[in-house]
Amino acid sequence: MRPALKTIVNVSVLLLTLSSPDESSVTYEIGFLMLQMWDDPRIEFRDGGRHKYLNALMHADMLWMPDTYFIKHGEFKYPLDRFDPVHIALKIFPNGSVIYVTRRNMILTCEGNLKIFPFDSPKCFFAIESSK
Ligand SMILES: *[C@@H]1O[C@H](CO)[C@@H](O)[C@H](O)[C@H]1NC(C)=O
Repeated sequence: MRPALKTIVNVSVLLLTLSSPDESSVTYEIGFLMLQMWDDPRIEFRDGGRHKYLNALMHADMLWMPDTYFIKHGEFKYPLDRFDPVHIALKIFPNGSVIYVTRRNMILTCEGNLKIFPFDSPKCFFAIESSK
């Protein structure tokens, strides 16, 4: 589908797991759910209230979808699909609101203070961007 003229996508991230491959490392693997919500008035529907929402997981290629990228601390820009996120849900509400939930894992390089390790508070930066 052609992109909607101007669509605001609300993104939220729910952290599920956090682990470090080795104790002295500044590398962390995180697992999280990413929720993306936007409104697409072109796909509003009315069915007399029979469905609270439609499950559109099998029809994702027919919808406008944001192409969200992660930018990790000065590293390469990866399209989200490159690491095969697990697609959890894609729901279309009668008013045209869409909720898209994926689960994914990411390896982050973090900045800590080795002098006071393990009592430091490592910071792991990443940013989310979209090119649409
Ligand atoms: C559309 O409906 C959903 C589900 O009831 C709701 O969460 C959302 O806020 C509504 N969106 C708008 C723009 O009213």
